[in-house]
Amino acid sequence: MAILNIHTFPDPILRQKAVPVTEFDQNLDETAQSMLETMYVSSGIGLAAVQAGILKQIVVIDLKSGEEDINNREPHVFINPKILSKSGTSVSEEGCLSVIDFRGDVERAEKISLEYQDVKGNYHEMEADDMMSICLQHEIDHLNGILFIDHLPVLKQKMVKKKLTKLAMVNA
Ligand code: NI
Repeated sequence: MAILNIHTFPDPILRQKAVPVTEFDQNLDETAQSMLETMYVSSGIGLAAVQAGILKQIVVIDLKSGEEDINNREPHVFINPKILSKSGTSVSEEGCLSVIDFRGDVERAEKISLEYQDVKGNYHEMEADDMMSICLQHEIDHLNGILFIDHLPVLKQKMVKKKLTKLAMVNA
């Protein structure tokens, strides 16, 4: 396992599309474990491989990431996740490990149904709502080169992106 370097806006790699995973080997399992570890040390609840510069359709999520007792953690690994259907709408405040120092309200589907594979390549289907639904939609966006700030109203989006780009230049 290794702690991975997380790329941040406006790094162009975040705009790349991830390709489907085809090899369900030891290497995939290690990548997923490293992603989980990286997410935990960064205090995030979700991470897409693209954020670590790995252009593969791998997402990890743990809504219990912040639990003090690591036995209470609930790590999930989604390989090649695909949203099959969406329903309802829900607005909630989002943040992202690749977007430093900004959180904002985003409207997404309230519920989704999802197909994905596990690290062994087995197919699963699930229904998700609440935080899990929002988190999955956010992470699957990453696999398509989309960031949550792309969902902000146009004017706000321009302002935020300008500010974040300036900040990144200062910190570089
Ligand atoms: Ni994110």
